[in-house]
Amino acid sequence: MELRIDNISKRFKDKVAVDNFSVTLNNGVYGLLGKNGAGKTTLMRILADVSTQSEGEIYVDNKSKSSLGANYRELLGYLPQDVGFYKNFTAEKFLYYVAALKGLDKNKAKDKINELLKFVNLESDKKRKIGGFSGGMKQRLGIAQALLNDPKILILDEPTAGLDPNERVRFKNLISDISKDKIIILSTHIVSDIEFIANEILVMKDGMLIEKLTPSKIINKVRGKVYSIKVQEDLLYEIKSKFNISNISREKDKVVVRIVDEDKPYLDGGICTEEEPNLEDVFLYYFNEKVTNKG
Ligand SMILES: Nc1ncnc2c1ncn2[C@@H]1O[C@H](COP(=O)(O)OP(=O)(O)OP(=O)(O)O)[C@@H](O)[C@H]1O
Ligand SMILES: [Mg+2]
Repeated sequence: MELRIDNISKRFKDKVAVDNFSVTLNNGVYGLLGKNGAGKTTLMRILADVSTQSEGEIYVDNKSKSSLGANYRELLGYLPQDVGFYKNFTAEKFLYYVAALKGLDKNKAKDKINELLKFVNLESDKKRKIGGFSGGMKQRLGIAQALLNDPKILILDEPTAGLDPNERVRFKNLISDISKDKIIILSTHIVSDIEFIANEILVMKDGMLIEKLTPSKIINKVRGKVYSIKVQEDLLYEIKSKFNISNISREKDKVVVRIVDEDKPYLDGGICTEEEPNLEDVFLYYFNEKVTNKG
């Protein structure tokens, strides 16, 4: 399947939230990466057909979203950034409720709900009220409801928010299990969450798509721009004011500062070495104002 986002823009009065966004996606996992306010949710709401674009069109296998109508929505699964759960519903009841909203046949819904409760590891909690769920449990329930209709296009807005490290691992496995025949788009500003699951990373800034690359290629973009410098603690203040810092660690009486910069940082009394870049560095490179870059 091919999902083509063609020149999508969204304006709220004088605010341009999505700006001429174009990209073509095929089956696979795409990580939409951008800081707060970049326009991720706005774009995803348009993709999920809960909001309309100001300009542009979305095509599935060359058929437009507007001409597909209800057929478009049948292809979709959507996890909103803030799911409106009914606290007094049990997990199971909530899934039956969403299944009814999606127009699923009751018997089919029953099988699917049992399968999904197992899949997201909520089977033993299915009779519990959602009001007593942890953030991670709610998130897994949110993923389950998005999968009820076997969507071919799965849109997950910040699916890893509020998950603890174990739940993150679980989530990653879950996504790779279902990713074979689907287009999955997930947004986040936690880089490490998409590093291992996304086939491609879409970097969004000020409503625009500024990069579309595999994780390893995107890391190569900052190769040669990541350094560590070992200094006395008292130089830390100066370093913080001058450079873009991605990490600080301590070694005996010294501090080791990880810096992302176009040029090799120079500091009197510091030993500077080039480092192997990671996606956290990439995020800083694209989004921190102190780094001079083309993004
Ligand atoms: N209904 C609205 N009315 C006016 N402005 C809006 C509306 N929705 C979003 N915006 C603005 O559009 C921009 C993009 O917001 P959006 O929620 O899409 O960003 P985001 O990338 O999802 O951010 P976050 O990481 O915080 O979820 C922001 O400046 C936001 O204030
Ligand atoms: Mg958002």
